[in-house]
Amino acid sequence: MGNLTRRSSKVIASLLAASLAFGTAGYATEAVSNGNSSYSQDQKVVARVDAQKAIEHVRYLSEEIGTRPGGLENEYKAADYVADTLKSYGYEVEYQYFPVADQYIANLALKDGKVWEMGAAPNGLISDNSVKAETIFISGGTKASDFVNANGKIVLMPRAATVSEYRTQVKLAVQAGAKGVILQSLVGSRGNYGQAFNPNLAEKVNIPVYGASYIHGEWLKDEIKKGNSEIGLTAKHYSNLKSVNVIATKRAKTRSKDTKEVILGAHHDSVVGAPGANDNASGVGLMLELARVYKGYNTDKDLKFMSFGSEERGLLGSFHYVDQLDQAGKDRIEAVFVPDMVATNYDKAKNLYSMTVDGSKNIVTDSTAAAGARLGNSDILPGTFGSSDHVPFHHAGIPAALFIWMGIDSWDPLVYHIEKVYHTPQDTIADNVSPERMQSALDIIGSGLFDVVRKDVPPLNKN
Ligand code: BES
Ligand code: ZN
Repeated sequence: MGNLTRRSSKVIASLLAASLAFGTAGYATEAVSNGNSSYSQDQKVVARVDAQKAIEHVRYLSEEIGTRPGGLENEYKAADYVADTLKSYGYEVEYQYFPVADQYIANLALKDGKVWEMGAAPNGLISDNSVKAETIFISGGTKASDFVNANGKIVLMPRAATVSEYRTQVKLAVQAGAKGVILQSLVGSRGNYGQAFNPNLAEKVNIPVYGASYIHGEWLKDEIKKGNSEIGLTAKHYSNLKSVNVIATKRAKTRSKDTKEVILGAHHDSVVGAPGANDNASGVGLMLELARVYKGYNTDKDLKFMSFGSEERGLLGSFHYVDQLDQAGKDRIEAVFVPDMVATNYDKAKNLYSMTVDGSKNIVTDSTAAAGARLGNSDILPGTFGSSDHVPFHHAGIPAALFIWMGIDSWDPLVYHIEKVYHTPQDTIADNVSPERMQSALDIIGSGLFDVVRKDVPPLNKN
């Protein structure tokens, strides 16, 4: 559907639903009694936010920059991109650095110049000097006889289920004279395909040992079949790393000591080997697009646009941010909106959930549910989930929620569906991003948040 058609049919649907919603949802009732409906406020956002603009940010982050592991160069490039974009909208921007653990990054170079990023074993050979050899695939790799042809070769093997079993695979490869080992991850943690990892070896070995994602293993098997089995392996150990949060502030129109603050924050890092288009360039793209649109309006609360570093390494950026606040700083925060995976095209991820750590409702879940009702958009549902940057705020007693597209089976709330390409090299715009889902998330989160930052203002003072 073209943009115009989509918008006009949506406006009609929204008008219908808005009239139905008035008098039922708390927010809508209040808006009517103010003599100025929240619905017309919503239009200030909905009429302007543009999924294509948000997806352009996703493209820059996931394609122009690529993978963005916390603490490394590409994470800085992402932070600079976010900061420069926010500055271009006229916001004050600061960087906040914090220390993070070492990274061990593996690169696999193909003959045609393509380079794939994986995890390297800290106890394997870490060297800038490429180990070059022909690659063979070994389907088992758990007994010595599997390695008869391995001398002088790089061996690709399916990763055995346990650490002690894959340590045996590596030991046998070394004994057979292999020049490198690539363990292909087979199973993912949430029904997704296996992701890259850092093999954990008991003792040092003098060949590179890599943890490849499932799809990298499949791609490499294809390359072997096509006769491109000669590859180069290099690995780097990065130490004394720091990661970074980016923070832009939009000050309330008039401020007092009681002025509250609202945060819209999304992580800009990705896991090793993954371009992270949906996880979470999508959340950053949504944040930047809302920052662009909100720039044109006054708010009665301070609004912070943030991108967090090293979320994938343990929510490190958001924990750091919360930890450095004093109690007054924590008390000032009224609401934290965390978009993380807001644009997947996975068909089973049917709803945009607003998730809190303990399943309780708060101003973030309520404002977005009310916005969905006013807009006649039934995508939004409440849920319970941790695993993202809303967690540290929740622990500090600050109302926060995660926004994510997911499918949850009503007959078993413990079964949930997220895209299989999550945390893998296939988390790309082509394979995992839906403009419609991005637009819906922009409309709902954009309207709910706007309502929160403009609440309690006499309607006539709004512009
Ligand atoms: N975007 C995910 C969180 C997520 C994934 C929530 C699937 C719900 C369903 C996030 O980037 C992530 O992967 N988080 C880590 C956090 C951990 C390192 C503390 C995770 O859950 O593994
Ligand atoms: Zn994420």
